[in-house]
Amino acid sequence: MNKKIVLRDDEMPTQWYNVVPDLPKGLRPPLDPATNLPMGPEKLAAVFPMGLLEQEMSSQRFIDIPLEVMEILKIWRPSPLVRANNLEKALNTKAKIFFKNEGVSPVGSHKPNSAVAQAYYNKREGVKRLTTETGAGQWGCALSFATSKFNLECKVYMVRVSYDQKPYRKSIMQTFGANVVASPSQETATGRGILEKMPDTPGSLGIAISEALEDAASRDDTKYALGSVLNHVILHQTIIGLEAKKQMALAGEYPDVIVGCCGGGSNFAGLAVPYVPDFLEGKKIRFVGAEPASCPTLTAGLLAYDFGDVAQTTPLLCMYTLGHDFIPPGIHAGGLRYHGMAPIVSAMVEEKIITPVKLQQLECFQAGVLFAKTEGIIPAPETCHAIRSVIIEATREPEKPQTILFNLSGHGLIDMASYDKYFAGQLHDYDYPEEAIARSMANLPKVSLS
Ligand SMILES: Cc1ncc(COP(=O)(O)O)c(C=O)c1O
Repeated sequence: MNKKIVLRDDEMPTQWYNVVPDLPKGLRPPLDPATNLPMGPEKLAAVFPMGLLEQEMSSQRFIDIPLEVMEILKIWRPSPLVRANNLEKALNTKAKIFFKNEGVSPVGSHKPNSAVAQAYYNKREGVKRLTTETGAGQWGCALSFATSKFNLECKVYMVRVSYDQKPYRKSIMQTFGANVVASPSQETATGRGILEKMPDTPGSLGIAISEALEDAASRDDTKYALGSVLNHVILHQTIIGLEAKKQMALAGEYPDVIVGCCGGGSNFAGLAVPYVPDFLEGKKIRFVGAEPASCPTLTAGLLAYDFGDVAQTTPLLCMYTLGHDFIPPGIHAGGLRYHGMAPIVSAMVEEKIITPVKLQQLECFQAGVLFAKTEGIIPAPETCHAIRSVIIEATREPEKPQTILFNLSGHGLIDMASYDKYFAGQLHDYDYPEEAIARSMANLPKVSLS
Protein backbone atom coordinates (compact mmCIF):
# COMPACT_ATOMS: atom_id res chain seq x y z
CA MET A 1 0.00 0.00 0.00
CA ASN A 2 1.26 3.48 -0.85
CA LYS A 3 0.70 5.93 1.99
CA LYS A 4 0.91 8.94 -0.29
CA ILE A 5 0.06 9.27 -3.95
CA VAL A 6 1.91 12.22 -5.44
CA LEU A 7 1.84 13.67 -8.94
CA ARG A 8 4.78 15.29 -10.70
CA ASP A 9 4.62 19.04 -11.43
CA ASP A 10 3.97 18.30 -15.10
CA GLU A 11 0.98 16.12 -14.17
CA MET A 12 -0.85 19.06 -12.59
CA PRO A 13 -4.18 19.74 -14.38
CA THR A 14 -3.89 22.53 -16.96
CA GLN A 15 -7.61 23.37 -17.02
CA TRP A 16 -10.26 24.04 -14.38
CA TYR A 17 -13.65 22.29 -14.59
CA ASN A 18 -16.86 24.33 -14.65
CA VAL A 19 -19.76 22.22 -13.34
CA VAL A 20 -22.49 24.77 -14.18
CA PRO A 21 -23.27 23.46 -17.72
CA ASP A 22 -23.53 19.94 -16.26
CA LEU A 23 -26.00 20.77 -13.47
CA PRO A 24 -29.25 19.04 -14.49
CA LYS A 25 -31.42 22.12 -13.88
CA GLY A 26 -28.70 24.74 -14.33
CA LEU A 27 -28.35 27.70 -11.96
CA ARG A 28 -30.77 30.52 -11.29
CA PRO A 29 -29.04 33.79 -12.26
CA PRO A 30 -27.94 36.50 -9.80
CA LEU A 31 -30.54 39.28 -9.64
CA ASP A 32 -30.19 43.05 -9.48
CA PRO A 33 -31.86 43.97 -6.15
CA ALA A 34 -33.11 47.25 -7.64
CA THR A 35 -35.22 45.48 -10.29
CA ASN A 36 -35.20 41.77 -9.34
CA LEU A 37 -34.09 41.10 -12.93
CA PRO A 38 -31.02 39.04 -13.91
CA MET A 39 -27.83 41.02 -13.45
CA GLY A 40 -25.30 41.20 -16.28
CA PRO A 41 -21.54 41.51 -15.83
CA GLU A 42 -21.54 45.32 -16.51
CA LYS A 43 -23.04 46.09 -13.11
CA LEU A 44 -20.48 43.94 -11.31
CA ALA A 45 -17.52 45.37 -13.21
CA ALA A 46 -17.06 48.09 -10.57
CA VAL A 47 -15.89 45.50 -8.06
CA PHE A 48 -14.65 42.49 -10.11
CA PRO A 49 -12.33 42.29 -13.14
CA MET A 50 -13.87 41.09 -16.43
CA GLY A 51 -11.65 37.98 -16.51
CA LEU A 52 -13.34 36.71 -13.36
CA LEU A 53 -16.83 37.86 -14.39
CA GLU A 54 -16.48 35.89 -17.62
CA GLN A 55 -15.69 32.81 -15.54
CA GLU A 56 -18.59 33.59 -13.19
CA MET A 57 -21.07 33.48 -16.08
CA SER A 58 -19.28 30.92 -18.26
CA SER A 59 -21.01 27.96 -19.87
CA GLN A 60 -17.71 26.42 -21.01
CA ARG A 61 -16.95 23.12 -19.25
CA PHE A 62 -13.16 23.46 -19.16
CA ILE A 63 -11.17 26.70 -18.80
CA ASP A 64 -7.39 26.96 -19.24
CA ILE A 65 -5.34 27.82 -16.17
CA PRO A 66 -2.98 30.69 -17.13
CA LEU A 67 0.72 29.75 -17.08
CA GLU A 68 1.51 32.54 -14.58
CA VAL A 69 -1.04 31.02 -12.16
CA MET A 70 0.30 27.49 -12.72
CA GLU A 71 3.84 28.63 -11.88
CA ILE A 72 2.72 29.94 -8.49
CA LEU A 73 0.46 26.96 -7.75
CA LYS A 74 3.51 24.74 -8.30
CA ILE A 75 4.98 26.08 -5.05
CA TRP A 76 2.81 23.47 -3.32
CA ARG A 77 0.73 21.71 -5.98
CA PRO A 78 -0.05 19.00 -6.90
CA SER A 79 -1.02 18.36 -3.27
CA PRO A 80 -0.62 14.82 -1.95
CA LEU A 81 -3.44 12.30 -1.73
CA VAL A 82 -2.93 10.39 1.50
CA ARG A 83 -4.35 7.08 2.74
CA ALA A 84 -5.47 7.52 6.36
CA ASN A 85 -4.71 3.90 7.22
CA ASN A 86 -3.81 4.73 10.83
CA LEU A 87 -7.19 6.36 11.33
CA GLU A 88 -8.87 3.34 9.69
CA LYS A 89 -7.13 1.07 12.19
CA ALA A 90 -8.14 3.22 15.17
CA LEU A 91 -11.75 3.16 13.98
CA ASN A 92 -11.68 -0.57 13.42
CA THR A 93 -13.36 -0.12 10.06
CA LYS A 94 -13.07 -1.90 6.74
CA ALA A 95 -13.57 1.43 4.98
CA LYS A 96 -10.58 2.81 3.08
CA ILE A 97 -10.11 6.48 3.87
CA PHE A 98 -8.21 8.89 1.61
CA PHE A 99 -7.71 12.64 1.94
CA LYS A 100 -6.38 15.48 -0.18
CA ASN A 101 -3.96 17.43 1.98
CA GLU A 102 -4.60 21.09 1.17
CA GLY A 103 -2.82 22.04 4.39
CA VAL A 104 0.49 21.94 2.47
CA SER A 105 -0.13 25.33 0.82
CA PRO A 106 2.00 28.32 1.92
CA VAL A 107 -0.70 29.54 4.32
CA GLY A 108 -2.02 26.13 5.31
CA SER A 109 -5.34 25.78 3.47
CA HIS A 110 -7.05 25.39 0.09
CA LYS A 111 -7.73 29.14 -0.13
CA PRO A 112 -4.66 30.15 -2.22
CA ASN A 113 -5.97 28.01 -5.11
CA SER A 114 -8.43 30.82 -5.83
CA ALA A 115 -6.49 33.74 -4.34
CA VAL A 116 -3.64 33.32 -6.84
CA ALA A 117 -6.04 33.20 -9.79
CA GLN A 118 -8.00 36.22 -8.54
CA ALA A 119 -4.84 38.29 -7.99
CA TYR A 120 -3.67 37.34 -11.49
CA TYR A 121 -6.84 38.48 -13.31
CA ASN A 122 -6.95 41.73 -11.32
CA LYS A 123 -3.30 42.47 -12.09
CA ARG A 124 -3.86 41.72 -15.78
CA GLU A 125 -6.58 44.39 -15.89
CA GLY A 126 -4.48 47.08 -14.19
CA VAL A 127 -5.98 46.92 -10.70
CA LYS A 128 -3.60 48.23 -8.01
CA ARG A 129 -5.29 47.25 -4.77
CA LEU A 130 -7.65 44.50 -3.53
CA THR A 131 -9.97 44.48 -0.52
CA THR A 132 -11.47 41.44 1.10
CA GLU A 133 -13.05 40.00 4.22
CA THR A 134 -11.76 37.06 6.21
CA GLY A 135 -13.48 34.84 8.76
CA ALA A 136 -11.02 32.30 10.09
CA GLY A 137 -8.16 34.34 8.66
CA GLN A 138 -7.29 31.66 6.12
CA TRP A 139 -8.67 33.55 3.13
CA GLY A 140 -7.06 36.81 4.25
CA CYS A 141 -3.69 35.02 4.50
CA ALA A 142 -4.22 33.43 1.08
CA LEU A 143 -5.04 36.73 -0.62
CA SER A 144 -2.15 38.47 1.16
CA PHE A 145 0.22 35.80 -0.19
CA ALA A 146 -1.26 36.02 -3.69
CA THR A 147 -1.23 39.83 -3.87
CA SER A 148 2.40 39.85 -2.75
CA LYS A 149 3.24 37.60 -5.73
CA PHE A 150 1.63 40.11 -8.12
CA ASN A 151 2.72 43.33 -6.35
CA LEU A 152 -0.82 44.41 -5.46
CA GLU A 153 -1.82 46.22 -2.26
CA CYS A 154 -4.20 44.27 -0.02
CA LYS A 155 -6.63 45.42 2.65
CA VAL A 156 -8.30 42.77 4.82
CA TYR A 157 -11.40 43.26 7.00
CA MET A 158 -11.09 40.46 9.56
CA VAL A 159 -14.16 39.38 11.55
CA ARG A 160 -13.66 40.74 15.09
CA VAL A 161 -13.94 37.39 16.92
CA SER A 162 -11.24 35.80 14.72
CA TYR A 163 -9.06 38.93 14.95
CA ASP A 164 -9.03 38.40 18.73
CA GLN A 165 -8.81 34.57 18.64
CA LYS A 166 -6.12 34.27 15.96
CA PRO A 167 -3.43 36.95 16.31
CA TYR A 168 -0.90 34.92 14.28
CA ARG A 169 -3.16 34.94 11.24
CA LYS A 170 -2.88 38.71 11.38
CA SER A 171 0.91 38.39 11.63
CA ILE A 172 0.99 36.18 8.53
CA MET A 173 -1.05 38.70 6.54
CA GLN A 174 1.26 41.49 7.68
CA THR A 175 4.32 39.44 6.68
CA PHE A 176 2.95 39.32 3.15
CA GLY A 177 2.43 43.09 3.30
CA ALA A 178 -1.34 43.32 3.82
CA ASN A 179 -3.14 45.89 5.95
CA VAL A 180 -5.54 44.16 8.41
CA VAL A 181 -8.33 45.71 10.51
CA ALA A 182 -10.92 44.15 12.80
CA SER A 183 -14.46 44.24 11.39
CA PRO A 184 -16.73 46.03 12.09
CA SER A 185 -14.20 48.87 11.82
CA GLN A 186 -14.28 52.65 12.03
CA GLU A 187 -13.01 52.81 8.44
CA THR A 188 -16.31 52.41 6.61
CA ALA A 189 -19.80 53.86 7.01
CA THR A 190 -21.17 50.30 7.40
CA GLY A 191 -18.69 49.49 10.17
CA ARG A 192 -19.31 52.74 12.03
CA GLY A 193 -23.08 52.27 11.81
CA ILE A 194 -22.92 48.73 13.21
CA LEU A 195 -20.50 49.67 16.01
CA GLU A 196 -22.82 52.45 17.09
CA LYS A 197 -25.70 50.00 17.47
CA MET A 198 -23.72 46.96 18.66
CA PRO A 199 -20.33 48.03 20.10
CA ASP A 200 -19.57 44.50 21.40
CA THR A 201 -20.57 42.54 18.29
CA PRO A 202 -18.28 39.58 17.41
CA GLY A 203 -18.75 40.61 13.78
CA SER A 204 -19.71 38.32 10.93
CA LEU A 205 -18.60 37.54 7.41
CA GLY A 206 -21.71 39.35 6.17
CA ILE A 207 -20.55 42.57 7.88
CA ALA A 208 -16.92 42.21 6.77
CA ILE A 209 -18.01 41.66 3.15
CA SER A 210 -20.05 44.89 3.29
CA GLU A 211 -17.02 46.82 4.56
CA ALA A 212 -14.66 45.39 1.93
CA LEU A 213 -17.20 46.11 -0.85
CA GLU A 214 -17.77 49.67 0.35
CA ASP A 215 -14.01 50.28 0.39
CA ALA A 216 -13.56 48.81 -3.12
CA ALA A 217 -16.48 50.78 -4.57
CA SER A 218 -15.09 54.05 -3.18
CA ARG A 219 -11.74 53.90 -5.06
CA ASP A 220 -10.97 53.61 -8.78
CA ASP A 221 -7.74 51.69 -8.29
CA THR A 222 -9.35 49.03 -6.07
CA LYS A 223 -11.41 45.91 -6.62
CA TYR A 224 -12.84 43.31 -4.27
CA ALA A 225 -12.03 39.60 -3.88
CA LEU A 226 -14.30 36.97 -2.32
CA GLY A 227 -12.86 33.74 -0.91
CA SER A 228 -15.82 31.40 -1.41
CA VAL A 229 -19.46 31.14 -2.57
CA LEU A 230 -19.09 32.48 -6.14
CA ASN A 231 -18.90 30.25 -9.22
CA HIS A 232 -15.41 31.43 -10.19
CA VAL A 233 -14.02 30.56 -6.75
CA ILE A 234 -15.39 27.03 -7.04
CA LEU A 235 -13.98 26.83 -10.56
CA HIS A 236 -10.47 27.59 -9.22
CA GLN A 237 -10.88 25.06 -6.41
CA THR A 238 -11.71 22.22 -8.84
CA ILE A 239 -7.99 21.67 -9.23
CA ILE A 240 -8.31 19.71 -5.95
CA GLY A 241 -10.83 17.23 -7.32
CA LEU A 242 -9.15 17.02 -10.75
CA GLU A 243 -5.87 16.03 -9.09
CA ALA A 244 -7.69 13.66 -6.74
CA LYS A 245 -9.28 11.83 -9.67
CA LYS A 246 -5.86 11.17 -11.21
CA GLN A 247 -4.40 10.13 -7.85
CA MET A 248 -7.31 7.84 -6.92
CA ALA A 249 -6.93 6.17 -10.32
CA LEU A 250 -3.21 5.63 -9.61
CA ALA A 251 -4.21 4.04 -6.29
CA GLY A 252 -6.67 1.82 -8.18
CA GLU A 253 -9.57 3.23 -6.14
CA TYR A 254 -12.83 5.06 -6.76
CA PRO A 255 -14.69 6.93 -4.00
CA ASP A 256 -18.07 5.69 -2.80
CA VAL A 257 -18.33 8.66 -0.44
CA ILE A 258 -16.91 12.19 -0.85
CA VAL A 259 -16.86 14.46 2.19
CA GLY A 260 -16.01 18.10 2.86
CA CYS A 261 -16.82 20.79 5.38
CA CYS A 262 -19.05 23.62 4.16
CA GLY A 263 -18.60 27.28 5.00
CA GLY A 264 -19.34 29.00 1.71
CA GLY A 265 -18.89 25.68 -0.09
CA SER A 266 -15.61 26.14 -1.99
CA ASN A 267 -13.35 23.38 -0.64
CA PHE A 268 -16.13 20.80 -0.66
CA ALA A 269 -17.26 21.68 -4.18
CA GLY A 270 -13.65 21.91 -5.35
CA LEU A 271 -13.13 18.27 -4.41
CA ALA A 272 -16.61 17.02 -5.25
CA VAL A 273 -17.77 18.60 -8.51
CA PRO A 274 -15.19 16.98 -10.82
CA TYR A 275 -16.96 13.72 -9.87
CA VAL A 276 -20.40 15.05 -10.83
CA PRO A 277 -20.22 14.00 -14.52
CA ASP A 278 -19.52 10.40 -13.38
CA PHE A 279 -22.40 10.62 -10.91
CA LEU A 280 -24.75 11.82 -13.63
CA GLU A 281 -23.67 8.91 -15.80
CA GLY A 282 -24.77 6.52 -13.07
CA LYS A 283 -21.79 6.07 -10.73
CA LYS A 284 -23.03 5.68 -7.16
CA ILE A 285 -21.36 8.39 -5.09
CA ARG A 286 -22.60 9.77 -1.78
CA PHE A 287 -21.61 13.44 -1.45
CA VAL A 288 -21.65 14.60 2.19
CA GLY A 289 -21.36 18.30 3.14
CA ALA A 290 -20.64 18.92 6.84
CA GLU A 291 -21.68 22.13 8.57
CA PRO A 292 -21.80 23.34 12.19
CA ALA A 293 -25.04 23.11 14.18
CA SER A 294 -24.41 26.72 15.23
CA CYS A 295 -24.58 27.95 11.62
CA PRO A 296 -26.83 25.35 9.92
CA THR A 297 -27.23 26.96 6.50
CA LEU A 298 -28.03 23.80 4.54
CA THR A 299 -29.87 21.85 7.23
CA ALA A 300 -32.02 24.64 8.72
CA GLY A 301 -31.85 27.44 6.14
CA LEU A 302 -34.15 28.18 3.23
CA LEU A 303 -33.40 28.11 -0.48
CA ALA A 304 -34.12 31.72 -1.43
CA TYR A 305 -32.76 34.80 -3.14
CA ASP A 306 -30.74 36.70 -0.56
CA PHE A 307 -27.95 39.24 -0.22
CA GLY A 308 -24.43 38.01 0.44
CA ASP A 309 -23.81 40.76 2.99
CA VAL A 310 -25.40 42.67 5.84
CA ALA A 311 -25.48 46.09 4.13
CA GLN A 312 -27.35 44.58 1.14
CA THR A 313 -24.77 45.70 -1.39
CA THR A 314 -24.32 42.43 -3.30
CA PRO A 315 -26.55 41.08 -6.06
CA LEU A 316 -29.25 38.66 -4.91
CA LEU A 317 -27.97 35.09 -5.07
CA CYS A 318 -30.17 32.01 -5.09
CA MET A 319 -28.77 30.01 -2.23
CA TYR A 320 -29.53 28.25 1.02
CA THR A 321 -29.44 31.06 3.57
CA LEU A 322 -30.06 31.81 7.22
CA GLY A 323 -30.79 35.44 6.32
CA HIS A 324 -28.21 38.11 5.49
CA ASP A 325 -28.41 39.73 8.95
CA PHE A 326 -27.81 36.44 10.77
CA ILE A 327 -24.89 36.79 13.20
CA PRO A 328 -23.69 33.35 14.24
CA PRO A 329 -22.09 32.81 17.65
CA GLY A 330 -18.29 33.00 18.01
CA ILE A 331 -17.61 29.32 17.45
CA HIS A 332 -14.07 28.17 16.81
CA ALA A 333 -14.53 27.27 13.19
CA GLY A 334 -14.65 30.85 11.96
CA GLY A 335 -14.55 29.78 8.31
CA LEU A 336 -17.91 28.04 8.68
CA ARG A 337 -19.74 31.06 10.11
CA TYR A 338 -21.42 32.33 6.92
CA HIS A 339 -25.17 32.80 6.50
CA GLY A 340 -25.27 31.66 2.87
CA MET A 341 -23.98 28.80 0.71
CA ALA A 342 -22.55 28.76 -2.79
CA PRO A 343 -25.34 28.72 -5.44
CA ILE A 344 -23.60 25.68 -7.01
CA VAL A 345 -23.65 23.72 -3.73
CA SER A 346 -27.19 24.96 -3.01
CA ALA A 347 -28.41 23.70 -6.40
CA MET A 348 -26.79 20.32 -5.76
CA VAL A 349 -28.54 20.09 -2.38
CA GLU A 350 -31.85 21.07 -3.97
CA GLU A 351 -31.33 18.38 -6.60
CA LYS A 352 -30.51 15.89 -3.83
CA ILE A 353 -27.02 15.21 -5.18
CA ILE A 354 -25.45 16.38 -1.90
CA THR A 355 -26.50 15.20 1.57
CA PRO A 356 -25.91 17.93 4.17
CA VAL A 357 -25.19 17.02 7.81
CA LYS A 358 -24.89 19.23 10.88
CA LEU A 359 -22.37 18.60 13.61
CA GLN A 360 -21.61 19.93 17.09
CA GLN A 361 -18.28 21.58 17.82
CA LEU A 362 -17.17 19.20 20.61
CA GLU A 363 -17.57 16.03 18.53
CA CYS A 364 -15.60 17.78 15.77
CA PHE A 365 -12.68 18.72 18.01
CA GLN A 366 -12.68 15.16 19.40
CA ALA A 367 -12.42 13.87 15.82
CA GLY A 368 -9.61 16.34 15.11
CA VAL A 369 -7.62 15.14 18.12
CA LEU A 370 -8.02 11.50 17.04
CA PHE A 371 -6.86 12.46 13.54
CA ALA A 372 -3.82 14.27 14.96
CA LYS A 373 -2.86 11.25 17.06
CA THR A 374 -3.31 8.76 14.23
CA GLU A 375 -2.28 10.65 11.07
CA GLY A 376 -0.01 13.25 12.66
CA ILE A 377 -1.72 16.30 11.20
CA ILE A 378 -3.56 18.73 13.48
CA PRO A 379 -6.56 19.80 11.38
CA ALA A 380 -8.12 23.27 11.25
CA PRO A 381 -11.35 23.46 13.30
CA GLU A 382 -13.31 23.78 10.03
CA THR A 383 -11.66 20.62 8.70
CA CYS A 384 -12.54 18.78 11.93
CA HIS A 385 -16.15 18.87 10.69
CA ALA A 386 -15.18 16.89 7.60
CA ILE A 387 -13.21 14.41 9.71
CA ARG A 388 -16.10 13.90 12.13
CA SER A 389 -18.34 13.24 9.17
CA VAL A 390 -15.85 10.73 7.75
CA ILE A 391 -15.77 8.92 11.09
CA ILE A 392 -19.57 8.69 11.11
CA GLU A 393 -19.56 7.32 7.54
CA ALA A 394 -16.76 4.81 8.25
CA THR A 395 -18.23 3.44 11.46
CA ARG A 396 -21.94 3.31 10.62
CA GLU A 397 -21.38 -0.13 9.09
CA PRO A 398 -17.75 -0.89 9.96
CA GLU A 399 -17.74 -4.18 8.02
CA LYS A 400 -18.81 -2.49 4.79
CA PRO A 401 -15.93 -2.27 2.32
CA GLN A 402 -16.21 1.27 1.01
CA THR A 403 -13.85 4.01 -0.10
CA ILE A 404 -14.17 7.43 1.45
CA LEU A 405 -12.41 10.52 0.09
CA PHE A 406 -12.34 13.77 2.01
CA ASN A 407 -10.81 17.20 1.77
CA LEU A 408 -8.33 18.09 4.47
CA SER A 409 -9.00 21.76 3.80
CA GLY A 410 -6.39 23.08 6.20
CA HIS A 411 -4.05 22.40 9.11
CA GLY A 412 -4.75 23.86 12.53
CA LEU A 413 -1.29 24.98 13.62
CA ILE A 414 -2.43 28.60 13.87
CA ASP A 415 -5.61 27.52 15.63
CA MET A 416 -4.08 26.07 18.78
CA ALA A 417 -5.85 28.60 21.02
CA SER A 418 -9.10 26.89 20.00
CA TYR A 419 -7.67 23.47 20.85
CA ASP A 420 -6.50 24.88 24.22
CA LYS A 421 -10.06 26.01 24.96
CA TYR A 422 -11.37 22.59 23.95
CA PHE A 423 -8.93 20.85 26.31
CA ALA A 424 -9.81 23.29 29.11
CA GLY A 425 -13.50 22.40 28.75
CA GLN A 426 -14.36 25.95 27.71
CA LEU A 427 -16.07 25.05 24.42
CA HIS A 428 -19.72 24.11 24.33
CA ASP A 429 -22.16 22.61 21.87
CA TYR A 430 -24.69 25.02 20.48
CA ASP A 431 -27.75 24.68 18.27
CA TYR A 432 -28.68 28.05 16.85
CA PRO A 433 -32.19 28.71 18.21
CA GLU A 434 -34.95 28.22 15.67
CA GLU A 435 -36.68 31.48 16.75
CA ALA A 436 -33.51 33.46 16.02
CA ILE A 437 -33.22 31.87 12.58
CA ALA A 438 -36.90 32.62 11.92
CA ARG A 439 -36.36 36.29 12.95
CA SER A 440 -33.51 36.68 10.52
CA MET A 441 -35.43 34.86 7.76
CA ALA A 442 -38.25 37.37 8.09
CA ASN A 443 -35.93 39.95 6.51
CA LEU A 444 -35.28 37.95 3.33
CA PRO A 445 -35.95 39.89 0.13
CA LYS A 446 -39.36 39.03 -1.27
CA VAL A 447 -38.44 37.30 -4.52
CA SER A 448 -40.13 34.09 -5.62
CA LEU A 449 -38.13 31.20 -7.07
CA SER A 450 -39.04 30.21 -10.58
C1 LIG B 1 -9.48 25.52 6.63
C2 LIG B 1 -10.81 25.93 6.10
N1 LIG B 1 -11.66 25.00 5.70
C3 LIG B 1 -12.88 25.31 5.24
C4 LIG B 1 -13.31 26.62 5.18
C5 LIG B 1 -14.69 26.90 4.69
O1 LIG B 1 -14.75 27.60 3.50
P1 LIG B 1 -15.29 26.92 2.16
O2 LIG B 1 -16.58 26.27 2.49
O3 LIG B 1 -15.41 28.01 1.19
O4 LIG B 1 -14.24 25.93 1.76
C6 LIG B 1 -12.44 27.64 5.57
C7 LIG B 1 -12.87 29.05 5.46
O5 LIG B 1 -12.25 29.95 5.88
C8 LIG B 1 -11.17 27.28 6.04
O6 LIG B 1 -10.32 28.22 6.45
